Amino acid sequence: MTQDELKKRVGEAALAYVVPGSVVGVGTGSTVNCFIDALATMKDRIAGAVSSSERSTERLRAHGIEVLDSNALEGIPVYIDGADEIDHGGHMIKGGGAALTREKIVADTAERFICIADDSKLVATLGHFPLPIEVIPMAAAQIARRVRAIGGEPALRQGVVTDNGCHIIDVRGLRIADPLAMETEINQWPGVVTVGIFARHRASVCLLGTPAGVKTLQF
Ligand code: 5RP
Repeated sequence: MTQDELKKRVGEAALAYVVPGSVVGVGTGSTVNCFIDALATMKDRIAGAVSSSERSTERLRAHGIEVLDSNALEGIPVYIDGADEIDHGGHMIKGGGAALTREKIVADTAERFICIADDSKLVATLGHFPLPIEVIPMAAAQIARRVRAIGGEPALRQGVVTDNGCHIIDVRGLRIADPLAMETEINQWPGVVTVGIFARHRASVCLLGTPAGVKTLQF
């Protein structure tokens, strides 16, 4: 089975976690695109969506799904999103699609984070995938120095400006043995908007696409 087929399967499987009559939190990426396409089949049974990126908003609207302002909501039951890596504790690296800040904001409003991913994303220890950090442009050089000081190799993602008008630094060479500690540390550097470690906002459930079918991991 191809990776695209695995993504389609987990996107469809995520429909079981959508609470009828409620607003659904929607992430960003190719796996989420499969979820959005599946969500369109039950669009009359939800109260709309709150979106984590301009790209997802566009796709949701193209399907006729109403996209609501997150400031107008009290909270949502579920947030459904992909990941670049997920470990056996539900901690994730996200931000390969540069949408990490809005993803973390929507995840923060949700009771449960349902991660949808193909089995290539499951790792023993986070850090093989370059860790994205969204930064205020004037802080980029100083944040790069701080990254080197903790043993990482920073690279400014070329040609990318986020939906928030910021830049992305991708960090190679980190072995993230304690995701919560590293998230807390990097979050405190001046000029960091969001670090792509999702430990405080880790997944509650991961629907993992495998050739043998969709596996459900509970955390
Ligand atoms: C975007 C993300 C995505 O969830 C992550 O990059 C996974 O994307 P894909 O489903 O295309 O592999 O964090 O910022």
